[in-house]
Amino acid sequence: MRKTLVAANWKMHGTKAFAGQLLAELNSGLKSGDCSAQVVICPPFPYLHLVAESAQDQLALGAQNLSEQVSGAYTGEVSAEMLLDCGARYVIVGHSERRSLYGESSALVAAKFAAAKSAGLIPILCVGESLEEREAGKTLDVVAEQIRAVVALGQADTWQNAVVAYEPVWAIGTGKTASPEQAQEVHQFIRQQLGETGAQVQILYGGSVKAGNAAELFAMADIDGALVGGASLNAEEFISICRAAD
Ligand code: G3P
Repeated sequence: MRKTLVAANWKMHGTKAFAGQLLAELNSGLKSGDCSAQVVICPPFPYLHLVAESAQDQLALGAQNLSEQVSGAYTGEVSAEMLLDCGARYVIVGHSERRSLYGESSALVAAKFAAAKSAGLIPILCVGESLEEREAGKTLDVVAEQIRAVVALGQADTWQNAVVAYEPVWAIGTGKTASPEQAQEVHQFIRQQLGETGAQVQILYGGSVKAGNAAELFAMADIDGALVGGASLNAEEFISICRAAD
C-alpha cells in the first residue's frame, strides 16, 4: 500500500524570519500522528539547515535541485553529498521551471536523477506537458519521453526509492487545477510506463493544489499525494492539504 506523500516546494520564496515562522506553525499543526501523510519540506538552498534544525521529525527535508556532478569546479552548483550533509532526504529534479527557464533537457534531468540516487537521496522526478502540447493531444507522448530518458540510464532498480510528480505546466501557479479525472488518466499512464516496480512508486500531482481540491485528487487510484507550490507557503492551507489524505 503506497503512503500519501505531500511535498512543499517553496520555490524562490521566503526569508530566514519567514522560514522560521512557517516552520513553527507547521510543527504546531502537524505534530506526530496528526496526519497519515508523509510530509516533505523543500526550501531554497540557504534555508536547508534552518529547516533541518527547526522541523520536527515528521517533516522530512528536501531540496529543489542538485548538480549532476559529484564535486568539482562547477561554480554555483550544489552536489547530492552537500544536500545529504544538510539533512536532505529528497530532491526535486526536472521541475518544469528548470526545464523551461534554465534549459534542462530530459537527458540532464536523468543525470541529476542518477546523481541523487547514487548518493542515497530520493529523487522526485517532475514530468508534465505545456498547454500547447495538451491541446495538440501530445500529453502522453511528452510524459513518456521524459520518463524514457530516466529509464535509458539502464539501472535495474531505477524506480525503487524514487518518486514521480505529474505537474501539467498549464496548472502550475495558474489556479487551473487539472480535474481529478485528467490527472488520474496521466498518473495511470505513468504507472504503466514505470513497469513492474511501478506499483510501489508514489506518483504525486502538482499544479494549483489547494485545501479545497486535495481530497478529491487524493481519492483517485493512482494519485499518491501532491507537490505543492503556492499553497505550501501558508501553514493553514498546507496543513489542510496534508490532512486531506486522512
Ligand atoms: O512544484 C510544485 C509547483 O510547481 C506547483 O505550484 O503554485 O501551482 O502549487 P502551484
